[in-house]
Amino acid sequence: MAAARVTVNGREAPIAPSAPHTTTLDFLRERGLTGTKEGCAEGECGACAVLVARPGVNKPTDWVAVNACLVPVAALDGQEVITSEGFSTAGEPGTPPTLHPVQEEMAVRGGSQCGYCTPGFICSMAAEYYRPDRCAQADPDSGPDSGPDSGADGADAEHGPNGFDLHALSGNLCRCTGYRPIRDAAFAVGTPGDEDPLARRREQAPPAPAATAYTRDDSAFLRTSTLAETLRLLRERPDAVVVAGSTDWGVEVNIRSRRARCVIAVDRLPELRGLSVASDRIEIGAALTLTEIERRLDGEVPLLAQLFPQFASRLIRNGATLGGNLGTGSPIGDSPPVLLALEASVVLADADGEREVPLRDYFTGYRQSVRRPGELIRAVRIPRPLAPVAAFHKIAKRRFDDISSVAVAFALDVEDGIVRRARIGLGGVAATPIRALATEAALEGRPWAARTVEAAALVLRAEGTPMDDHRASARYRSAMLGQSLLKLHAHTTEAVSS
Ligand code: FES
Ligand code: FES
Repeated sequence: MAAARVTVNGREAPIAPSAPHTTTLDFLRERGLTGTKEGCAEGECGACAVLVARPGVNKPTDWVAVNACLVPVAALDGQEVITSEGFSTAGEPGTPPTLHPVQEEMAVRGGSQCGYCTPGFICSMAAEYYRPDRCAQADPDSGPDSGPDSGADGADAEHGPNGFDLHALSGNLCRCTGYRPIRDAAFAVGTPGDEDPLARRREQAPPAPAATAYTRDDSAFLRTSTLAETLRLLRERPDAVVVAGSTDWGVEVNIRSRRARCVIAVDRLPELRGLSVASDRIEIGAALTLTEIERRLDGEVPLLAQLFPQFASRLIRNGATLGGNLGTGSPIGDSPPVLLALEASVVLADADGEREVPLRDYFTGYRQSVRRPGELIRAVRIPRPLAPVAAFHKIAKRRFDDISSVAVAFALDVEDGIVRRARIGLGGVAATPIRALATEAALEGRPWAARTVEAAALVLRAEGTPMDDHRASARYRSAMLGQSLLKLHAHTTEAVSS
């Protein structure tokens, strides 16, 4: 197996002698690429953002922004990375380098003061600059100063007249500039020219996934090429930590100082990266990133489409996977309430074969599940047809990029004004994500009317065993459950009765 190496700004660099737990952020900074900053070291500020060449949705390669503080550099073996230093072009001797169009807009529109956050913003903004379908949305007649409220075609509260999706910056924080000049810069960027090397790079396939066996001292980072090999490896090393986007791994390493002896990466396994839409079900590979699912499903599952913008930030969604979110078994993960309401099941694989487990039977206790040592989540299956009335309500202190205090997902079939079937998933009210079974029973067979809903809201308030903690009181959590159902009814009554 070839020595592990990563291509940074067009130059190959050996990963050795870094330890297997070395983050990409530390790796880059140790090599003098100090534009990549450390702010929080847990995926919440974006100061460490870099671009990685990944399989594209509309072109062979997408430039994807990820948090370098969360990704082990060994996971980038064989891959290509661009840091903030990789955008500008060297000028003639004695002249300053030519700024990249994104850097230029940030500079001229006052998007940078102390500059600490700026390289991270540049990387997130560049990922959106190179997003192929953003170019298709762009409205060339709209000037760069057209704001989101200007009414220009293609612009709304979250998109610029150039098609720039502000969610691309949802994982980047700035303490001093204020966000208006940064938004102005984002909404002013044009489209990449034909000679732009990073735009041209999108036309070629990304680097093929490399099998990696990177060991130093007594720890190892391992990646095989096939699911069968990975499952054999997991049988030999049931103690291994399995990673895909590493969004949990990075927090464990940086904040809790955990050092796993063996890490096995599954994010590039083709068997975990499929997505199929059939008449009776949708199957989503456990290692597809949330961004890939969002873009490939393109609204096919409205409940998931509501979930994605509220799931952390774009930077996190570019790495995080459904397999990871279910694998950690957190009671406040954002996807379980939605997948419970969708009556999803998980496909678990080990060296002996596969089994399918309904998600409602999957969680067994706080961060516990029926998944056995040596088993992997291969896919998530969602049965069709989907319930026509669906909503996801996440109650948190911030609208975006926050952890929920409580989360509720509804999927209702309402026919002729009667609730024929109700499925409700809850997060943040028990040691595991749960179904609101008593509330479902209180709704089914009854009119979708204020009286039913008010009575069912009282039942919903009593579901689970919410706790007091620093995010919310138990009373508040219960109250929000009931309010969620009232809100859903208020929003849907007109649509259902019409
Ligand atoms: Fe804050 Fe990485 S340092 S997201
Ligand atoms: Fe200082 Fe953003 S310019 S933190």
